Amino acid sequence: MPAVFKKTKNLKGEIIIPGDKSISHRSVMLGALSKGTTEVTHFLNAADCNSTIKCFSKMGIEVEKLEPERILIHGKGLHGLQEPEQALDVGNSGTTIRLLSGILSAQPFNTKISGDDSICRRPMGRIIKPLSMMGADIISKEKNDCAPLYINGSTLHGIHYDSPIASAQVKSAILFAGMYADGITSVTEPYVSRNHSEKMIQFFGGDIKTEGTTHILTPDPHLEGQKVIVPGDISSAAYFITAGLIVEGSEILVKNVGINPTRDGLIEVVKAMGGSIELMNFKDEMEPCADILVKYSHLKGTTISGSLIPRLIDEIPIIAVLACFAEGQTVIKDAQELKVKESNRIEVIVENLQRMGADITPTDDGMIINGGKPLKGAVLGSRHDHRIAMSFAIAGLASEGKTEIIGSECVNISYPNFYTDLQNLIQE
Ligand code: S3P
Repeated sequence: MPAVFKKTKNLKGEIIIPGDKSISHRSVMLGALSKGTTEVTHFLNAADCNSTIKCFSKMGIEVEKLEPERILIHGKGLHGLQEPEQALDVGNSGTTIRLLSGILSAQPFNTKISGDDSICRRPMGRIIKPLSMMGADIISKEKNDCAPLYINGSTLHGIHYDSPIASAQVKSAILFAGMYADGITSVTEPYVSRNHSEKMIQFFGGDIKTEGTTHILTPDPHLEGQKVIVPGDISSAAYFITAGLIVEGSEILVKNVGINPTRDGLIEVVKAMGGSIELMNFKDEMEPCADILVKYSHLKGTTISGSLIPRLIDEIPIIAVLACFAEGQTVIKDAQELKVKESNRIEVIVENLQRMGADITPTDDGMIINGGKPLKGAVLGSRHDHRIAMSFAIAGLASEGKTEIIGSECVNISYPNFYTDLQNLIQE
């Protein structure tokens, strides 16, 4: 499905952003492994999180959809999963395959887990290595460290792992496996990545603490079902924050957005670029959140690197668009992880922005953008990557002429109503 966008002015109004994807996945996983019922409000009802539900349903966990965004998970405790009759299919979801592999490694049964073409290209060696150190038995079918994975349930040992990458999926796979291990498990990461697993394991009654960039988990079999209120996903809010900043005359109130400090790098970048962004109505229920008001602004380039990268890794496609509307140079470095996301995001961001006439150069670990030149509409590929489709829809609203996005329906992965929500802000 191609979608078409043209230059617009004055995006105005309020928007409630769908629930956070990372927190929604984890609420299903921890709910399933807890005793009793977990109620999740503002659950992200999108393809990725529904893949997680389907995997747990195949292992005997009942998940009731009370409303599209309110679910009940009937947990069976840490040892209550049943052997699935068929292979588990994670669809496009990296979080599902990596975190679930940690859990499956410790089950008293064997599983096969796989997903779509993109999933079967993404690196799984990064979890196979530490999980194997814990005693897991994981075989990559094609022997290329990618899915399909055959996981033969084993007895696990606690380990300390020095992770070479700041990846919440790697950290969480190890910590989730650690819940079944015979001793303490700890993970040190080069920079702190999103800490939802740590916060939520604690919220469900687990024993975990963080010292600097090290997370230490003591196995405790007593997780209890909880009421989880999922904040809006800052990674989805990012498209509207950017639209408000780059579409002339705009003012948008983005409501109830999760602002966990391990995820809020975009806000820091917008401030460094001189954008008008204001946070209000703070709340803290398991995760901190706030309303975010943005207004059209004159922006200047900035440098994004180091410990900031894991705090905004999923926002880099839309930050690259933002940088095209900022005077001067924006440098994004230390972001080689972009190459192994749902698509090779360095390649596709550069290809699409060059088609729109931007001055952008790829580097081995990021890109350099000389902003301030008007962009022109173009026909763009999404590579079935939801964040690419949404980023370039926003670019289209601030570019001369018509922008057409091929494969635009991939937004279903994380934001099925994206185009309708965007349309509602257009004043015509
Ligand atoms: C996620 C972690 C990040 C992020 C992904 C969601 C998570 O991946 O890009 O969209 O929920 O743990 P990495 O752990 O590969 O950095």
